[in-house]
Amino acid sequence: MSPSDLPFSPACERNKRPIVEVLQQWLSNDARVLEIGAGTGQHAVYFSSLMPDVHWQSTDVAENVEQLRVRFEREAPGRLPEPLALDVRDQDWPGGPFDAVFSANTLHIMPFENAPRLFEGAARALTGNGLLLCYGPFMDDGVHTSESNRSFDASLRLRDPSMGIRDTTELRPLAEAVGLFLRDDIPMPANNRVLVFEKG
Ligand SMILES: C[S@@+](CC[C@H](N)C(=O)[O-])C[C@H]1O[C@@H](n2cnc3c(N)ncnc32)[C@H](O)[C@@H]1O
Repeated sequence: MSPSDLPFSPACERNKRPIVEVLQQWLSNDARVLEIGAGTGQHAVYFSSLMPDVHWQSTDVAENVEQLRVRFEREAPGRLPEPLALDVRDQDWPGGPFDAVFSANTLHIMPFENAPRLFEGAARALTGNGLLLCYGPFMDDGVHTSESNRSFDASLRLRDPSMGIRDTTELRPLAEAVGLFLRDDIPMPANNRVLVFEKG
């Protein structure tokens, strides 16, 4: 893959600044972070430019690793470790332990049955008191937080019935079952949120 073929997400350009402000509040300067579903890698490139001492280990499903590798080589040479293949359904997650696991816009893309795998894997990968930070749109008790999220949810389900905005009422028990407890729920621009779970 040549650098000009790299996928680009305009949403990442819009949300990267508000997200890094949250990360800087919650992470120590030298935190070890595992990123799940890194996608285009734009987040990792940007976050690592502002948090140079954080060890940011990006991962994604195997077919996306090459695009991450090319972007990191081009836009963050020497700053990020080699991206790794990780599907949340894998039993063995790479590296660790990590102080935090970060995942943006993945829970509404992966089938709901994979959500417990994400929580279980994160709980295994985290240190005691480690954090799982999930960014994206969420609903509560069957209710969308905005009309735009309702339409986005409908468009996702039309595209693939296994996708859809997830409900915090369903996510919290899954997280608690593996010892991850919701510590904060931070409103973000464009009706997104960061759910911060802590390993208790
Ligand atoms: C909408 S993209 C988000 C990418 C990036 N985090 C962002 O915010 O732009 C969803 C990502 O979830 C990843 N994903 C989907 N199913 C996954 C799974 N089972 N394990 C790990 N990642 C998965 C996809 O490969 C994709 O990179």
